Amino acid sequence: MNHLIAPSILSADFARLGDEIRQVIAAGADWIHFDVMDNHYVPNLTIGPAVAQSIKPHCRRADGTPVPLDVHLMVEPVDALAHLFAEAGADLISFHPEASRHVDRTLQLIRGTGCQAGLVFNPATPLDVLDWTLDKVDLVLIMSVNPGFGGQSFIDGALRKIEQARQMIDAEQRRSGRTIRLEVDGGIKVDNIRRVAQAGADTFVAGSAIFGKPDYRAVIDAMRAELEHTR
Ligand code: DX5
Ligand code: ZN
Repeated sequence: MNHLIAPSILSADFARLGDEIRQVIAAGADWIHFDVMDNHYVPNLTIGPAVAQSIKPHCRRADGTPVPLDVHLMVEPVDALAHLFAEAGADLISFHPEASRHVDRTLQLIRGTGCQAGLVFNPATPLDVLDWTLDKVDLVLIMSVNPGFGGQSFIDGALRKIEQARQMIDAEQRRSGRTIRLEVDGGIKVDNIRRVAQAGADTFVAGSAIFGKPDYRAVIDAMRAELEHTR
């Protein structure tokens, strides 16, 4: 599986969001990770569907190819907002299973809009729900920090969960022939991305590690160089 880097715009300069997105795409971003926080499911408040719609035209490479908009919903309830983000131009929509009363229904709702659907697991949340949902999931997102803020430290316990998720995904991919991505979010830096990949992740969210530095390309290139070692 190819490795994808998904910069989280949570750590970008919101006053210059379009510029920031174009710049990080020019620097080699594969996806744009869009963190939605509602001050209810998590103790922070960020951006909504109107902002997603405004940035969507900027999510393109110089040659015109689209860069997927990866929406991470940290909201409760989920369904109405998932719908609004699909209309706003999301390509992938992920939610936390404990934030939806009917997880299977929410997965169907998201896929019904034409978006890919993801489930997100907090550091203390077991993967059990995947036993019953993996056939409707396009993306598994393992949180390596508690959701709500950028710039936190990577929680090592996530590595064991990534290994477990890798096994479940591999079995489902063998069964169905369908691709399911394994994404990790929180505290990812140049110096730990290799360990995260070795545990089995293929998609890497990084916010402060990229937007906290002046040269986005230097960070993304350094991350890719680390990932080369895991091939
Ligand atoms: C945290 C968000 C993350 C965050 C990652 O709740 O889901 O996407 O932006 O930021 P860093 O990479 O700084 O930990
Ligand atoms: Zn996120």
